[in-house]
Amino acid sequence: MRVACIRVLRLAREAAHLIKDASRIDIYSHIDPDGITSGTIASLALERMDLEHEVHFLKKLDSSTVEQIRDSAPEVAWFTDLGSGLYHLLADMRGIITDHHVPSMVPVSKERRQDLLAYATSEMIQVNPHLVGLDGATEISSSGCAYLVARELSHANTNLAALGVVGAVGDLQDRAQGRLVGLNRQVVEDAVNADVLQVIRDLRLFGRETRPIFKLLQYANDPPLPHLTEDQEACIVFFLELGVDLKEEDRWRRWIDLAPFERRRVVSELVTLLLEKGYGHKLVRRLVGEVYLLAKEPEGSPLHDAKEFATLLNACGRYEAGDVGYQVCRGDREAYYKKALELLKGHRKYIVDSLYVVRDVGLETLDNIQFFHGGDRIRDTVVGIAAGMVLGSGDARPGMPLIAFANSEDGVKVSARAPRKLLAKGLDLAEVLRKAAASVDGEGGGHNIAAGATIPKGSEEEFLRLVDDLVREQLEG
Ligand code: C5P
Ligand code: C5P
Repeated sequence: MRVACIRVLRLAREAAHLIKDASRIDIYSHIDPDGITSGTIASLALERMDLEHEVHFLKKLDSSTVEQIRDSAPEVAWFTDLGSGLYHLLADMRGIITDHHVPSMVPVSKERRQDLLAYATSEMIQVNPHLVGLDGATEISSSGCAYLVARELSHANTNLAALGVVGAVGDLQDRAQGRLVGLNRQVVEDAVNADVLQVIRDLRLFGRETRPIFKLLQYANDPPLPHLTEDQEACIVFFLELGVDLKEEDRWRRWIDLAPFERRRVVSELVTLLLEKGYGHKLVRRLVGEVYLLAKEPEGSPLHDAKEFATLLNACGRYEAGDVGYQVCRGDREAYYKKALELLKGHRKYIVDSLYVVRDVGLETLDNIQFFHGGDRIRDTVVGIAAGMVLGSGDARPGMPLIAFANSEDGVKVSARAPRKLLAKGLDLAEVLRKAAASVDGEGGGHNIAAGATIPKGSEEEFLRLVDDLVREQLEG
């Protein structure tokens, strides 16, 4: 095992020691799939120890939320999927942070990593891959970090590893390689050994188990399929020309209903199509990869495929119903699950409508970035999902970071997403957004490939100029 991985495990052990000494813990978690699964893992691990605790879901952590938490004086605070970006404000509190965002203590030079490890074992213990030089956008998510702590608390918690996989997939950590990599592999292995996860090699498109096959292609965006994505008729013709029936009696066939020879025929045709259109092998390879199935969920349920499970959690958390997703993660399949399915329908429609809004307001460009402003027409909690989808579609300039705005109750929410190839050229959106937001009295952070901020209303133009300059400097640097 790499030294860096061993160091993360050491931090997880330290965190577990602190927990064992506590009599009550307050858990603060983010409302996205990684946050909801992290909060559930933390809560179930504490429940199994009979440790009094409460979970609080937060849309974001900023300096004013930190003040409110301080005022409530938790005996021990456990921050999951948030906290590292504001470590400087939390360092003297008693508790732990299981997070994968870039920590606020920068730069993290190789020479200083040892010091940081010592720092991390002070009052507030941070379990974060960045502290040991691992990439928090790909090597492990917050739910993975929370899982490592849970495993240190008791080996019986290995059956929570599947939730760690849902969180990582929800944060698209499997995207670049078509499989989870780095420390995530440990989480995957534990989940498989605990019989809660099955890993298969298959088409990685969203909706393998729930969508009619033509819709699987119509809505494909990772990668988008030339001449098929967004063209329902072309997708139907594609299957008919291949001799693959769309219906079985009165029922639309889903990907899982196809015979193995039919699936092979479809994949081979899609690969040919992408290669003919000049897509590189790397992108084509992403079409087929690892698919993570929750072994205890029935086939065809929106909870069986980790990708679909994560979307169901987005459908809850992004619409002020994080607790609904949380109860589903804890095992509810009655009232909360029914509510989650309703929310899922609403989420699907909201995403489609948001993409129309982007088309309507249009994408504009500066020298190094492109942007759109969703105003009041896209929720601040959904604008990041829309930004990611637009960047991956034919509507956006392929080689430029995308900055998206939406109005929020405390200013303007910013979501930024970058094409992966710019990372190798030095782009780090977390740093760009942190610096640009600070210059206009806002707060920002995140990951190199995806970051966010909140800035004061009216400062968008100045903010964009700053972001444009910072991106240029990084790419020239
Ligand atoms: O708050 P958090 O870290 O959990 O969110 C990570 C965000 O980064 C998610 O919205 C995810 O979709 C995005 N991301 C991305 N591309 C990647 C990795 C993450 O857009 N390759
Ligand atoms: O909100 P959005 O999905 O665009 O956020 C992208 C990433 O930036 C997420 O990982 C999120 O947690 C992070 N972020 C942050 N500070 C903010 C806003 C977002 O670290 N103020």
